[in-house]
This record gives sequence, C-alpha cells and structure tokens, in this order.
Amino acid sequence: MSNSSAIKLAGLRDFESAACTKLSREIYDYFSGGANNEITISENDRAYDRIKLRPRILQGVRERDTSVMILEESLSTPICIAPTAFHCLAHKEGELATVKAAVKANAIMMVSMASTVAMEEIALVAKNNSEGLTPKLWFQLYIQPDRELTKLFVKRAEDAEYSALVVTVDSPVFGMRDRDIRNNFHELPDGLSLKNFDSIKSNSSVRPTLEFNSGLTWKDIDWLRSITKLPIFIKGVLCGEDAQLAIQHGVDGIIVSNHGGRQLDTLPATIDVLPEIANAVEHKIPIIIDGGIRRGTDVVKALALGADAIAVGRPILWGLAVNGEQGVCTVLKMLQEELTLAMALCNCSSIKEIKKSLLYSIL
Ligand code: FNR
Ligand code: LAC
Repeated sequence: MSNSSAIKLAGLRDFESAACTKLSREIYDYFSGGANNEITISENDRAYDRIKLRPRILQGVRERDTSVMILEESLSTPICIAPTAFHCLAHKEGELATVKAAVKANAIMMVSMASTVAMEEIALVAKNNSEGLTPKLWFQLYIQPDRELTKLFVKRAEDAEYSALVVTVDSPVFGMRDRDIRNNFHELPDGLSLKNFDSIKSNSSVRPTLEFNSGLTWKDIDWLRSITKLPIFIKGVLCGEDAQLAIQHGVDGIIVSNHGGRQLDTLPATIDVLPEIANAVEHKIPIIIDGGIRRGTDVVKALALGADAIAVGRPILWGLAVNGEQGVCTVLKMLQEELTLAMALCNCSSIKEIKKSLLYSIL
C-alpha cells in the first residue's frame, strides 16, 4: 500500500488537502484557483450549504437506483467528469489514468481539448479496457478562429468515436487568474504539451495552437451543427434567455457552468441560476451542471433543482494527484456512495423521485 492510500480520506474535500501536499505551489494554485478575487469560487462552494433538504419518511428505500437517461441513453450514474486541462500536471499518466477510472465507474468523461495526451490515444486506451466496458467519452471543443482547424477537430472526434461535443462558450478570452500571475505560471513545464496540436501538419513553419475565440456568435453554432451529426452540448450557459437560444439553434443539451469560477469573477453560483434555466428549458433538452459539487447531498440538490446530470472538475484532479487512476476511482466511488446514501436518507429510491419538494423553499 502506498503512503497516500494509507491516509483515510473522508470526502472529496479531504482529497484536495491531500493533493495540496503532493503538488507544487504553482500547480496546486493553477488547479485550485480562479479569476480575480475568487468570489465565484466561494459562491460555488457555499451555495450548496445554504440549500436545506426536506426529506420524506417511510417510503421504503432498500433499492437506490441512480440511473438517468441522457439523450435516450441510460447511464448508471448522473455523475460525469467535467473537462479539465493538463492532467499530466497532476500525475504522470495524466488523462490516461483519468479515462481508465472513468470507464470503470461507467461515468461520462468530457475530454478537454487542452489535454496533455492526444484525444485519439485517450479513446484507444478507453476502448481497450480489460472488462469489455463501453467508454462514454465526449470531446470538449473550443471553436477556433480557423474553421478548417475546427473541422479537423470535429472529424478527429468522430473518427475516434467520441459520442458528443461539448462546446465551451464562456471563454471568448482567457480569464485573469491572480494566483497564476503572482506565481508567474503561464506555460507548461518542459516535456508537456497540448498533445492534440502536436500531430497537426501546417503549411507555415508555425504549428497552430489553442486559441480563445472572441468572435464567436450563434452563427458559429449553426455552422458546427451543419458539419456534424454528433450531439452538441453548449457549456457555459448562465441564464434562461441563452438556454432558449441554444434550443432554437438545435443544440442537444446545455451545461450550466461558470468554468469553476475561473473566467468571469463575481458570477453567482451555478446552483443559484439553475432554477431559471430549468424553467426556460422545460425539459426539452438535458441540463448538466458543474461548479462546487463535492458531496452526495450537493448532487441531490442539483437534481432536485432541474439538472439531469452533474459534473465535477477539480475533485478529479485531486484524485489524480493523490493516487493516479486509483485516486480518480476513489473520488468517483465516494461521490457515488454519498449520492446513494443521501438518497436513502431522503427516502428516494430512484433519481426520478428527487424533486423540488425535497428542498426547503429558497425562492
Ligand atoms: C477547467 N475547466 C475547463 N473547462 C473547459 O471547458 N475546458 C477546459 O480545458 C477546462 N480546463 C480547466 C482546468 C482546470 C484546472 C479547472 C479547475 C477547470 C472548467 C471545468 O470544466 C468545470 O467547469 C469546473 O472545473 C467545474 O467546477 P469544479 O467542479 O471544479 O468546482
Ligand atoms: C482553464 C482553461 C484551460 O480553465 O480552460 O485553465
């Protein structure tokens, strides 16, 4: 047994403390930190604590079924992995360790375009799992100013059998991260790179690299819709009007996200804007939410307020840093077990039974 697994960790937050001792200051701060004064990060963290549960009694909850349907596919858990960049900063196996854990947990992994292992290799390792499990991989795309380059990424995602695209739209420019400025952290250490770009052949001597695209409009979403049959999720929706526009533009699902408080600071917690978005969406398309979800009770609250599934970002990186694939497995297992425990204590035997009436009114 390694030293790290000998330490008893009682929840996802304990993983953060354990990861902090394993990582350099710069890397821990890059993962953990966010924009400016990190007001949004603390909102994401605290908002769940403000919401109180209102359980029923005596419903009989010997069975707790956590399965959910997303786009006509049945998933055994509503817990997904949010796309995060640079997994090799957390652990030498990087995204390969994460994806192995995701496959074992039967969880959707949204693979960041800014991965430190190439998207094809991640998909291959996922496919070649020894248990014969079917991977659930979605590809997170930043639409590039160069459409040909974007097209190439869509084609690569299709060819590698990713089953959906997650288009992140909260990053017209890169957020200002005070911790990274203070630590002078602005590039990957030697030996690591944005692997998805390494294989791209270019006419000029300069190979393309990931760009944030401040010119994006709904027309780019229409264009993306026209070049692929893959389901498209838009990540970074924060109000009802935009959720309705997403539906009008043929988007298949939305991810309510403030990028873990890393882009625009002083945004509200995502859980606080979820009711407005759920109202606007009227169950027409699935809603996934991320930001600050650390406990099984947080998952219950997000589902009660209208999410169909949830995603976690940083806890996966903490699991990776603490113990690679096994660490991510433990993080996912812990959250899953906490979810079934919370369901039992709330007297819910299926996800369908998790409704608004399970919460004390906050509106
Ligand atoms: C992110 N996030 C992110 N999102 C995205 O669409 N593409 C990306 O490459 C990244 N990269 C990234 C790196 C790191 C270190 C973090 C912490 C986050 C945002 C991520 O998908 C998600 O929205 C948040 O992490 C969710 O919040 P929690 O669970 O970390 O609180
Ligand atoms: C981040 C980018 C890579 O949040 O999305 O650091």
